[in-house]
Amino acid sequence: MILDGKKVSESRLATLKEEISSSGLSPGLATVIVGDDPGSQLYVRMKHRACEQVNIRSHGIVLPGSSTTSDVLKQVRLLNDDRTVNGILVQLPLPPHIDTPRIIEAVSPEKDVDGFHPANLGRLFSGNPVYSPCTPKGIMTLLREYGVEPEGMHAVILGRSIEVGRPMASLLLNANATVTICHSKTQDLPAIASIADILVAAVGKPRFVGPAMVRQGAVVIDVGTNHVDGKLCGDVDFESVRAVAGAITPVPGGVGPMTIASLMENTFLAARLQS
Ligand SMILES: NC(=O)c1ccc[n+]([C@@H]2O[C@H](COP(=O)([O-])OP(=O)(O)OC[C@H]3O[C@@H](n4cnc5c(N)ncnc54)[C@H](OP(=O)(O)O)[C@@H]3O)[C@@H](O)[C@H]2O)c1
Repeated sequence: MILDGKKVSESRLATLKEEISSSGLSPGLATVIVGDDPGSQLYVRMKHRACEQVNIRSHGIVLPGSSTTSDVLKQVRLLNDDRTVNGILVQLPLPPHIDTPRIIEAVSPEKDVDGFHPANLGRLFSGNPVYSPCTPKGIMTLLREYGVEPEGMHAVILGRSIEVGRPMASLLLNANATVTICHSKTQDLPAIASIADILVAAVGKPRFVGPAMVRQGAVVIDVGTNHVDGKLCGDVDFESVRAVAGAITPVPGGVGPMTIASLMENTFLAARLQS
């Protein structure tokens, strides 16, 4: 079974558009990019396009790559104080000279629609999430839409980043899965991966997961977005793994669109909580 994130995302956005329209609210999202990284510009453009689709007001702030941590902090504080802005998204990665944790912590937790503020990660970790990070949240939605019930399953997550691996582990644990997290220091990762009922690959290495790492019938979620010879490629070798897996997300068209749908949902949630 192909877990079609593009299709599910379109349907979620259509529902959200109706919900926003009948709420009488006018949610607003502000994005901040520092520098001119083409990848970041592309992702932010996609987010603004989704905003248009569901009638979320959006405005993008682009700061020069030479901006200092204090320049970015100043901008974030302006947005925190702006009552027309419900959600703030600072596009990561920031240039290396910027103190990223300080910027993340400067975003008001009430407007932190990316869910990366320690207050929101702490709520998630304690089992009472408000804003969950968009990529793992989108994966949970996709699993639900396809009737995959994580309760009692062994979920193995490859990667332990703040953006993906750690919040993914919390969400799956909150859904009563038994969770194992693997990372670059894990010993015999293939053996652990190959006993997973749900395998989430978020390592950022093209085709890292091959069929020998996948249990027959497992649900395989490919978070990776790697560029190889000008083409987008996941962390999973899709063609060989699909023969073994019970369900699998494609790249593109799997996790990526779900991430954007979750951002829209978090922004509407922010507008509701702030109204
Ligand atoms: N589709 C989407 O919406 C979306 C959203 C976010 C990210 N992504 C993509 O997902 C991928 C992961 O993103 P990220 O932000 O989580 O990346 P990241 O911050 O670079 O984290 C990568 C993780 O993978 C682990 N890792 C790296 N090489 C490994 C190896 N050989 N064996 C085992 N573990 C290894 C690292 O372990 P250590 O901690 O030990 O270093 C780290 O925990 C990237 O391709 C990214 O572009 C996609």
